[in-house]
Amino acid sequence: MTAHHPAEARAVALAGRLRGLASGAREIDEAGVAVRGALPEWLRGDLLLNGPALWDLPGGSYAHWFDGLAMLHRVRIAPGGASYRSRFLRSRDYLESIESGRPAYGGFGSPEPQPWWQRLRQLRQPRVTDNGAVVMSRVDGRWVAQTETPLLTEFDPDTLATVGRFAFDDHEPLHLMAAHGITETDGTWWNVGAEFGPHCSYKVFRVRPGSRRREVLARIPVGKPGYLHAFALTPEHVLVWEPALRAHMFRFMFSGSPYMDKFGWEPEGGSRIHRVSRADGGVQTWAVPPMMAFHAVQAWEDGQDTVLDLCTWGDGIFEALRLDRLRAGRPTGLPMEVLRYRLAPGAGAASPQRLAEGAELPVVHGSRWGRQRARLAWCAGVDPAGQAPMFDRTLKLDLDARAVAGSWQRPEGAVQMEPLMVDRPGSQDEEDGVLLVPTLADGDAGTQLAVLDPASMQCLATLELPQVVPFGFHAAWNGPA
Ligand SMILES: [Fe+2]
Repeated sequence: MTAHHPAEARAVALAGRLRGLASGAREIDEAGVAVRGALPEWLRGDLLLNGPALWDLPGGSYAHWFDGLAMLHRVRIAPGGASYRSRFLRSRDYLESIESGRPAYGGFGSPEPQPWWQRLRQLRQPRVTDNGAVVMSRVDGRWVAQTETPLLTEFDPDTLATVGRFAFDDHEPLHLMAAHGITETDGTWWNVGAEFGPHCSYKVFRVRPGSRRREVLARIPVGKPGYLHAFALTPEHVLVWEPALRAHMFRFMFSGSPYMDKFGWEPEGGSRIHRVSRADGGVQTWAVPPMMAFHAVQAWEDGQDTVLDLCTWGDGIFEALRLDRLRAGRPTGLPMEVLRYRLAPGAGAASPQRLAEGAELPVVHGSRWGRQRARLAWCAGVDPAGQAPMFDRTLKLDLDARAVAGSWQRPEGAVQMEPLMVDRPGSQDEEDGVLLVPTLADGDAGTQLAVLDPASMQCLATLELPQVVPFGFHAAWNGPA
């Protein structure tokens, strides 16, 4: 086993479970992983994890959780046992930041280091980060890592080596792009971006397999685009929601302020949900109460209605996830609600129904996501008493009953991040699979990957990873071909 780490990284002392917010993760080659318990025989493949991992450089630190330089991790589950590998993503941002010893690009909570006169020369194509610390997905058969900018970085899912920039074969101007694209089983990759200017618009587009051209299905005019992180899909529609956190155009074009400061909470304008027909690109819009949402739980068709379930927040979430607050162990303290919006034709507005609270980072069975209604979802949950830092439990939600149908917590107390559902191959039962949950308790030597039965919410097995995997957001499963 070899281990590498940018030697200049500044040490920031963090103890216990908060080590998941430290800059100590190393590049490790194929380390053995001890497995306690019994893994299902069918569970063979690679868990890919991604997330911010390096926040502290000799000449400066990033100020926000979302801003750390990305590291990729692979947990391979094979008949002979399990192994772990990690690599930093060699994005342009990573290479320039390591070279200079300080953040080379602005981030979510970090100002743009370029002086204003240089930024003015790049108004049409602003210099934005490609630090792909948020999502991994497949486009045109390639694995890419991305953040909320239109710059994708391709990597090799076996070696985790960075291949380079994934370039689109078009000139479609986009200033923002949702971090979460959706890849359908036929390989079509869908996403939504926003173009700024005198007339702003959202663009719903797809990239068909064998192509790298962003084919725009719909352009939705918008006065002030909302913060854009994800969208949802049904077999008939694409759903785009506009949070009440709205872009301040002047700041985007001219200010070097941190990304999060380029948005302002404007509840008086409310929020909107756009429904785009996949058949003809036609758009219908519903007004909804002001909200902020990163993630959809699911979307489905119910007769003429389309139903969208969202994990929502109010104002203040960007500030609550600043690194100094999280490293001090402060819970966000903000209400989180899972809301259901029923979009009925002819109604210009939709009133949400509350399904659950205290739940984020949702997942449903793969046979349901984007295809048909899910009854069940699994999420990372927070301490209702508001005492524990980060997420500390894994929840099972019965969406129909609007109830928590089960939960799992490590008995000693731990941070428990996004549950990734791995479906048993070919399964249709929405509980047929396992949940993979990265956890970290105060006394753990490294991250403990829990393998849960989604039906019983019992822990089947634990994989002991050889280091602390810094807290990230989204995992992916790369099953056998
Ligand atoms: Fe996300």
